[in-house]
Amino acid sequence: MTQKKYRYALIGCGFFAQNHLHAWSQNPDVELIATCDVDFEKAKLAAANFGGKAYASAEELFANEDLDFVDIATTPPTHKYMVELAAKHGVAAICQKPLAWDMADAKSMVKEMSDKGLPFMVHENFRFQTPMRKIKEIIDSGAIGRPFFGRISFRTAHDVYSAQSWLVESERMIIVDVAVHLFDLARYFIGEPNTIFTSAHRVNPIIKGEDSATILMDMPDASCIVDASYETRSDHSTYPQTFVIIEGTKGAITLSADYHLQVVSGTSVTNEVVVIPDHGWTSQPWNGIQDSVVNVNKHWIECLKTGRTPETSGEDTLKLLDITLGAYESAESGQVFNVGSLLK
Ligand SMILES: NC(=O)c1ccc[n+]([C@@H]2O[C@H](COP(=O)([O-])OP(=O)(O)OC[C@H]3O[C@@H](n4cnc5c(N)ncnc54)[C@H](O)[C@@H]3O)[C@@H](O)[C@H]2O)c1
Repeated sequence: MTQKKYRYALIGCGFFAQNHLHAWSQNPDVELIATCDVDFEKAKLAAANFGGKAYASAEELFANEDLDFVDIATTPPTHKYMVELAAKHGVAAICQKPLAWDMADAKSMVKEMSDKGLPFMVHENFRFQTPMRKIKEIIDSGAIGRPFFGRISFRTAHDVYSAQSWLVESERMIIVDVAVHLFDLARYFIGEPNTIFTSAHRVNPIIKGEDSATILMDMPDASCIVDASYETRSDHSTYPQTFVIIEGTKGAITLSADYHLQVVSGTSVTNEVVVIPDHGWTSQPWNGIQDSVVNVNKHWIECLKTGRTPETSGEDTLKLLDITLGAYESAESGQVFNVGSLLK
């Protein structure tokens, strides 16, 4: 018997959505029913390249199509509206990060989906990068003992503004754009923090928000530094790679430039270059991120098939958003933020 294909629509056909479209096109479990973008030319182009009917309005899309899920890849201010439309029409949803700008909005999005019993996941893809899955496996194997220190770092001078001009105008920038992923990695590798403290600055005067941020996360038995910058010049571009150090009671894991992974476990030291799977459409330097979209999609489909809750469910993402918004509170107040304050 052939397996049912999940009927999906992609809402928002801009810059990052191209990775979603390619990644879905290699997934045998889905069928693209429609594309949607207020910029109708983009929706039409996506439909011409990947299939389905093009829409300029999400209301019309939901009114006319019978869908199993929507993949929302619009810019953040529209996420709430899109998720609410999905809930209203009884359609499961996967939504790009950040889920929302505001905790009240995020809570209401999560509630609306859960009241209807609809699967809901946030496209929090960094933990789905191949090297990050590998690091998590090593930690879980006990090879480095109990983690007590982490540093998760994303530093580049790559011009992110040409492809994503909306970042120039964003009052909140690198924390919500990239540190959010690094916070999620810290939770994934080490656990939930009790408090965080942020130091953040604007280096590039053309933008409105912050483009350099350093956050200290204090976990019950560990500390983790998260740092991100879009103004870091070096002799070798590593964009868009994330560097990781996890130190444990019996060893350490270091993920450095070009996916070099070193594991120290007791007296043994292993070094390897993590191979990022090639999907045909993926290319340097994006391949690590592009590959993670393939993995996010697989995870979502597995959750739909089994009824399992996604790792980065809406509910789980409320905790991540609490940290992310808390990082801004800390930067603005100059005080430590008590994690969980915004969840109450
Ligand atoms: N996870 C990652 O690695 C990653 C990387 C880049 C961007 N993103 C996220 O992806 C999302 C999109 O970012 P982008 O850089 O691709 O932005 P973009 O501006 O290139 O694309 C967004 C698209 O949404 C469309 N849109 C806006 N409002 C709409 C509406 N009401 N109805 C239908 N379409 C609408 C726009 O016309 C645009 O084509 C953001 O949430 C961003 O944070 C994630």
